[in-house]
Amino acid sequence: MKTLGATTYRRRLFINGKWIQSQNYVTLKSPYTLEPIAEIPNATDDELEQAIAAAYSARETMRKMPIHQRSTILERLVSLLSERFEEAAQLIALEAAKPIRTAREEVKRTIQTYKFAAGEANRIGGETLPLDAAPGGENRLAYTVREPLGVVGAITPFNFPMNLVAHKIGPAIATGNSIVLKPATQTPLSAFFLAELLQEAGLPDGALNVVTGSGRVVGEGMVVDNRVNMITFTGSPEVGIGIRNKAGLKRVTLELGSNAAVILDKGIQIEKVVKRCVLGAFSNQGQVCISLQRIYVHEEIYQDFVNQFVAETKGLKGGDPLNEETDISALISQNDVTRSLTWIQEAKDGGADILTGGYADSTVLLPTVIVNVNPNLNVSCQEVFAPIAIINKMNSVQEAVEQVNNSRYGLQAGIYTNDINLALEAVEQLEVGGVLVNDIPTFRVDHMPYGGVKESGTGKEGIKYAIEEMTEMKLVIFNRN
Ligand code: SIN
Repeated sequence: MKTLGATTYRRRLFINGKWIQSQNYVTLKSPYTLEPIAEIPNATDDELEQAIAAAYSARETMRKMPIHQRSTILERLVSLLSERFEEAAQLIALEAAKPIRTAREEVKRTIQTYKFAAGEANRIGGETLPLDAAPGGENRLAYTVREPLGVVGAITPFNFPMNLVAHKIGPAIATGNSIVLKPATQTPLSAFFLAELLQEAGLPDGALNVVTGSGRVVGEGMVVDNRVNMITFTGSPEVGIGIRNKAGLKRVTLELGSNAAVILDKGIQIEKVVKRCVLGAFSNQGQVCISLQRIYVHEEIYQDFVNQFVAETKGLKGGDPLNEETDISALISQNDVTRSLTWIQEAKDGGADILTGGYADSTVLLPTVIVNVNPNLNVSCQEVFAPIAIINKMNSVQEAVEQVNNSRYGLQAGIYTNDINLALEAVEQLEVGGVLVNDIPTFRVDHMPYGGVKESGTGKEGIKYAIEEMTEMKLVIFNRN
């Protein structure tokens, strides 16, 4: 195996427009080589306090900044990021072990996300209301405006270290909020990189503060602080539910996990669908909230599909994330490799068959296809967040819909069918935030509404929708009586 070439450097916290040495540091290691790549601040309570105080005092500057200026800052960020495109992709590949071709896709999406934020900033508005539709409402002029909440606390995950940060920073700036960002401990470098670009783009001091550290000190500290008006979190259901329980009356948006599924009806063109399913199951090592984990296939096409899916999976190349040929690289941590292997073993012990993969080559878990899995086992009913796909035989779409719904989660689901009535019925019955007809659930463009039901979360992202979450609607009534 090739190594990444260690670039060890000591980063600083970004607070009130300054790069500040922390009192504590931790070593960041490449998930692929396990070699040190940086020294990262592990913020103390005091350092978090400085960041929240800076965001709190910057909120007035942000609130008063005209929309065209906020939009221009975001446009400048788009230009700067486009100029440093390859550097950004290499950083993602290095810290997240995301294969470089996929990392470049993430940078393209990040640019899109900020472009949408720059555009949507110009469309933040309200509506006029005909109050005289109710007796007693005559002679009044009524309209709504959208105001920033104040300070947004953003907690982001490792799996899209640039674009999921953009989904929080972009709409927060567009709406005139200030931000304290806690990036994932495994992938802070992309967040520091974005802070550097935003400073160059002209964002005022204190409008964005980047504080790396533990969930207990930095995450919890933001959740319980009264100066922070909203928490926007992407991550595990366990942490998300904990945030919800501690946040009191704060606005909370939670983008949590899922064990996303697709239903493949009889009569569909298998060849086309197989490639999409392999991409959906194994892209970024399955570490995507809408990764395709469960595949329900009609018995008439089951064996054909399984054969083709396994053959396509065997063609994926594992290895160094910086190698152009690599399709699958390391999981984010050795704990995740161990957990995945334990769940695979548990499935085997429960009578499942591993058709390919099922083992790890050091930090890389080979793409794994499993059939005959008891749906109550971890590998099926939990979010695996690893390159593991389960294929189930079904005898009707109705049966598959029930199986898909038999889950704690409900983010997105897909159904391939040629029968429009079955598609419409499935759309109605699937308990998810988004249904994809004739596609896999692993689809997202950055302006669409994105968010789940059940333990997959509450609230929506997608710039326009995040803007709604990050603003308060104020009603104004002029009495002309
Ligand atoms: C996620 O894993 O929640 C984000 C998926 C995506 O943006 O494609």
